[in-house]
Amino acid sequence: MASDHAGFELRRQLRPYVEGLGHEVVDLGTGSVASVDYPVFGARVGRAVASGDCQRGIVICGTGVGIGIAATKISGIRAAACTETYSARLSRQHNDANVLALGARATALGLAQDIVATWLATAFEGGRHQRRVDQLAALDRGEDIEAQSVNSAL
Ligand code: RB5
Repeated sequence: MASDHAGFELRRQLRPYVEGLGHEVVDLGTGSVASVDYPVFGARVGRAVASGDCQRGIVICGTGVGIGIAATKISGIRAAACTETYSARLSRQHNDANVLALGARATALGLAQDIVATWLATAFEGGRHQRRVDQLAALDRGEDIEAQSVNSAL
């Protein structure tokens, strides 16, 4: 887990909740509500997950948008910014999202807990979704995925 200053308090509250669900949490900062730059913390979590040091990542900023974009800039990361449980579930089932991005100014603690619990408990469905996730990996490698698509018509 990591956050910027805007996500500091929600991260502080969510950490024991995630541990209570049976997960070990690696906390990558920030350490206070002093203003920091969210890309640093999104990238930290992205690297921890992409390297295999951590299985999944949770990043938090004011909206979840900026820090999620930052995490996704790391090759191999599929970050999903979610403000409700439906998208959190589908981000696992269809997109195999490996980073969850939350917005502390957009999502109250109780809903954030539901989103996190749903996201952590939901498995990737594979099947037809695997090809699309493979295409995301190809984009990470800078490949042209048009030829790999079953329907690339405009
Ligand atoms: C910080 O004010 C805010 O811009 C940041 O937390 C985040 O919401 C950016 O996407």
